[in-house]
Parts: sequence; structure tokens; C-alpha cells
Amino acid sequence: MTKVIAMSGKGGTGKTTLSALLIKYLIVKKLTPVLAVDADSNANLNELLELDVDLTLGQIRKDLKGDMPPNMTRDQFMEMKVHQALIESSGFDLLVMGQPDGPGCYCAANQHLAMTMDHLATNYRYILVDNEAGMEHLSRMNLRAVDTLLVVSDPSARGILTARRIADLTSPLGIEIKSKQLIVNRAPDPVPEALNNKINEAVENSDMQLGGILPSSDTLIEQELSGNSYLKLGHDVDIVKKAFNIFSHIIS
Ligand SMILES: Nc1ncnc2c1ncn2[C@@H]1O[C@H](COP(=O)(O)OP(=O)(O)OP(=O)(O)O)[C@@H](O)[C@H]1O
Ligand SMILES: [Mg+2]
Repeated sequence: MTKVIAMSGKGGTGKTTLSALLIKYLIVKKLTPVLAVDADSNANLNELLELDVDLTLGQIRKDLKGDMPPNMTRDQFMEMKVHQALIESSGFDLLVMGQPDGPGCYCAANQHLAMTMDHLATNYRYILVDNEAGMEHLSRMNLRAVDTLLVVSDPSARGILTARRIADLTSPLGIEIKSKQLIVNRAPDPVPEALNNKINEAVENSDMQLGGILPSSDTLIEQELSGNSYLKLGHDVDIVKKAFNIFSHIIS
């Protein structure tokens, strides 16, 4: 069975960074093939993986509203285009959602996309969705269940409170979420007691578990600035070891 992992959390907390590190983890642990979905309209997961994007699902949904090539149904067209949009890499493929729907009705296009995603999903062991703050993409992609929702927070009181709100607000999505894991990113090391108290309070008063606490890392900042793929980071790098340790507890 394909397992779905989705990222959530407010802007700039580290969702894309953790997505890239998680892809690396799944590859190293041979939990492949992985489908990585960049559901951020300002797509940038590809940059952390040094991959170029030619075609997005947003573009395909637009094309689907136009004329079809002769002898092709809309489902066949969608299937063909989605395969064109898949960026194939070693151990994983990347699919980029692109811009949200413009004016007009995309219901039919989204229905075709949902069917294609159902087919596609069965090819993968893990699907990892890097979201922007909202999570409506999950329903558009027809993912009815999420095995693990990572709620990423910055190390502030308000950040932790926002993470709690995000975790509480998932029910209206109509998606079954089996496990919610709070990850506090860019935390001071050692973790101040007051922050620890906030984290414990959030975990006790929500249905989130504490996935882990990740420190701030100059290596990640340098890697991002260099434009080199996060997949090239050494396994002995401190932040990689710490992230892998967290993932080993939450990915069963
Ligand atoms: N543990 C860390 N240590 C140092 N820098 C980090 C860490 N995690 C993330 N960053 C940096 O913080 C910035 C924001 O991270 P990232 O893009 O992953 O956040 P995001 O949640 O995906 O943002 P958005 O909501 O805009 O998609 C990036 O420049 C990234 O390199
Ligand atoms: Mg991001």
C-alpha cells in the first residue's frame, strides 16, 4: 500500500527543507519509489533537488479545457500529460502542481486529475506532498487519507500555537489523517525550558505527537545558497543525522 506523508505549517517554517531531507531519507532507506509532489504555487522543492521543471499540473488542467488531439479522450490526454510532467530522478519522481486554478470552472479538469492521480499513486511506495500553508491540494489530488501529517513550526510561542491551530483545522478537509507529528524547526540548542513547556502543552492539548525538534543549521543555509542538491549532503552531517533520527521514529 502506498503511504502518504504531507507537510503543513505556516510560511517559512521549513516544510520544503524537511521535504528534501525526507526524500533523501526514503532513498537512503530504500523505501522507494517515492513520488514527491510540490503543491506550493511558488514551486521551489525542485531547486533544493537541482531539478528543472517544464510542465506543471496547473498547465495541464488549463490545456484540458481546450481542444483535444484527435482520437484521444480527456482521460487519455490527462494521463499522457501527467506522465510528461513527471520529472524522473533516481529513486523518486517529482510532480509540480503549479499555479492555482484561474477564473472559470476547473471541476471537470480536477476530476480527470483525481482519476489520474489514483492510477499513478499505486506505482509508488511513498507519496510526499510539500504544501503551502493551506491543504486543499490534498483533496484536489484525490488523496483521501494521509498517513502522516508533519506540522512544522518555528521555535516561538506563537509558532507553536499556529501549529496547534493547523492540526485542529484538518477535519473540514474530509481527509482521514492517521498521525499528526509536530516538528519544531530551527530551535536553539539546547532547547530553552520555556520552549519545551510550550511544546509539551501543545502536544497534550491536541492530537499531535511530538515528532522531534531540529536545531538551526548553518550547513542547510550554505547548501541552499550554493544551489547544490540536498541529496548530496553527506550522511555524517549533523543536521542530516538529526533529521534522519526524527524520520526513523515517525516513518514506520
Ligand atoms: N533547520 C534549519 N536551519 C537553518 N535554516 C533553515 C532550517 N530549516 C529551514 N531553513 C531555511 O529557512 C528558510 C525557509 O525554509 P523553507 O523554504 O524550507 O520553508 P517553507 O516552510 O517551505 O516556506 P514556504 O512556506 O515559503 O514554502 C530557507 O531559507 C531554509 O534554508
Ligand atoms: Mg516551501
